[in-house]
Amino acid sequence: MRAAAAPATAGPAAPAAEPGRPASGIRFDDVSVAYGRHGEHTVLDSFDLTVEPGEVMALLGPSGSGKTTALRAVAGFVRPARGRVLIGGRDVTGLPPYRRGIGMVVQQYALFPHMKVSENVAFGLKAQKTPRAEIPGRVAEALEMTGMAAYAGRHPRELSGGQQQRVALARALAIRPGVLLLDEPLSALDTQLRSGMLAELARLHRELPDVSILYVTHDQIEALTLADRIAVLESARLRDCGTPQELYRRPRTAFTASFIGTANLLPVTVRADGTGVDLGGRRLTVPVAEGVARGSGATLCVRPHLVGLGDGGATGNSLPGKVTEVQWRGATHRLDVSVDGHRVMADVRELRTPPAPGDTVTVHFAPEDAVLVPAGLTGDGDHHG
Ligand SMILES: Nc1ncnc2c1ncn2[C@@H]1O[C@H](COP(=O)(O)OP(=O)(O)OP(=O)(O)O)[C@@H](O)[C@H]1O
Ligand SMILES: [Mg+2]
Repeated sequence: MRAAAAPATAGPAAPAAEPGRPASGIRFDDVSVAYGRHGEHTVLDSFDLTVEPGEVMALLGPSGSGKTTALRAVAGFVRPARGRVLIGGRDVTGLPPYRRGIGMVVQQYALFPHMKVSENVAFGLKAQKTPRAEIPGRVAEALEMTGMAAYAGRHPRELSGGQQQRVALARALAIRPGVLLLDEPLSALDTQLRSGMLAELARLHRELPDVSILYVTHDQIEALTLADRIAVLESARLRDCGTPQELYRRPRTAFTASFIGTANLLPVTVRADGTGVDLGGRRLTVPVAEGVARGSGATLCVRPHLVGLGDGGATGNSLPGKVTEVQWRGATHRLDVSVDGHRVMADVRELRTPPAPGDTVTVHFAPEDAVLVPAGLTGDGDHHG
């Protein structure tokens, strides 16, 4: 999804780059936002993040973590108590929303019901004082890009949810923004429409390789599919930021591990000699990185698909336990195994005769498949089923 990965030529519907085109790239510089009469509720705390020109950054985090607030700070709908917001390297903290050159799409379409599709799309252009003669062409261009050209004369109530969301996207794109802010744009759509729209967004991004996109979602699949990088928010703070692969393979926190993909999180003690960890009385071999304190607690993270059934042999870490649940998931079986009271999930492929609840089994994982993160959140690291 990076500009470099996109085709060199933009699609036919893409507007030509112009000198007057709004700058792209977003920077949060130590931004704090607080609500309450005395600003006592901090909902975004010392937030630092850079979205490069042409980059898609997903903001991922649980409800109430501050994702929409971060977006609203970029859009200019909320004023930070501290810090600066920069767009295209320019400090926009004091600018009103319509002067920031951003397009925004929110969760509930928010189209004007009494206006036709074309009028909805023209709205931002008028607010921006685009010369009157240019407006029809710009509206047509934006509707073309989102596949809604045939619906220009309809009212929102005559459109499906997916079509309404395309119009909302067309409205955001009409002003040829340098920055596109998308706040859970697919959450009101059903699963099938969602995956279609996800592919559409990926295509649009290829056609507009210079636009920076900040994409808020709860949904890790959306984040993993679309984003060049993911920023993980929890309780008003940025907890982690990296490419999807980095966060998946090398999460820095147990929270990230459980929020991106599913993780087994086990409370362990790092052995004093740094050769591995102890889970209760059980010795496990895992790589212990430089910065990890010897002799103290940590959380061991290993993905269920990297946990195998059976003994791991000399190099693998073998964990005997009792099966508590077996779920058939098509390509795999999800086994829940209780190991000394700790829940260990194993996603096992091609299991002709799966074990049954109550059976005693051994599961294993290779040392290199485990990651140690600071102690915290353990147990059920499956936020997504
Ligand atoms: N106008 C407001 N006045 C007071 N508190 C607010 C206001 N807007 C948001 N908040 C609070 O700020 C916190 C963060 O809200 P925000 O909308 O940014 O969360 P979010 O991560 O987008 O959540 P969700 O995933 O549910 O949309 C919440 O605790 C919310 O109640
Ligand atoms: Mg929100």
